[in-house]
Amino acid sequence: MKTITSIAELRCLIAQPRRTGKRVGFVPTMGYLHEGHLSLVEASRARSNLTLVSIFVNPTQFGPNEDLDAYPRDFARDEHLCRDAGVDILFAPNAREVYPAGFETYVEPGDLTKPLCGAVRVGHFRGVATVVCKLFNVVQPDVAFFGQKDFQQCAVVRRMTTDLNLPIEIVQVPTVREPDGLAMSSRNRYLLGGGTPAGRRN
Ligand code: PAF
Repeated sequence: MKTITSIAELRCLIAQPRRTGKRVGFVPTMGYLHEGHLSLVEASRARSNLTLVSIFVNPTQFGPNEDLDAYPRDFARDEHLCRDAGVDILFAPNAREVYPAGFETYVEPGDLTKPLCGAVRVGHFRGVATVVCKLFNVVQPDVAFFGQKDFQQCAVVRRMTTDLNLPIEIVQVPTVREPDGLAMSSRNRYLLGGGTPAGRRN
C-alpha cells in the first residue's frame, strides 16, 4: 500500500493503472476507521482492480459549533487497518492541500438537503458535496462506495454525481452494526465518554 498526501503525486501514481484499464474503486472517509469502513473496502475490492481510500476530516462540513477539533483521529492505526484490508492507495491530504488559500467555490446541493439531518446541520451537505466532488475530480474513480448509515448523504452524492455528469458509479453498502444493533460510527466514541469506540480492535 502506498500512502500519499499530495494531489499531484496521487494523479501521477494513478495515471498508469488507469491507462492499463484498471477499474478504480474509491472509499472516501474521515478516518478513525471501523468495520463499517472496512466493509466499504471489501465491496470495493470485490468490484474493482484497485482500491483507493481517502482519509480527510473535512472542515467545510462541520458547523461553527460542531466537533471538528474533537473529531476522533488515529492515523497510524487507520493506516495499519487499510494495509491489512488490502487497500492499494491511501490518500491523506491536509486541509491546505484540499482547500488552498483563496478557495471560494462550493457545490450547492438542493432540496434533498432540506429535511432530516440537513434541517439541523445547515451547510453540512454543501461541505460534503464540495469535498466529494473535489475528491472525485482528483481520484477520478470508476466506482465509489458509501455507507447506507448516512442515507441522506448517499442521496445527495448520487444526485450531485448525476447532475454534474460525473461518470462514476455510486454504490451504497449496507450498514454494519454492533451486536446490540447500534450502527457503527466513528462518533460512537462519544457514547463512551471519549474512550475507545465500540467495534474497534485495540
Ligand atoms: O461519510 C463521511 O465520512 C464523509 O461525510 C465523507 C463522505 C468522507 C466526506 O467528507
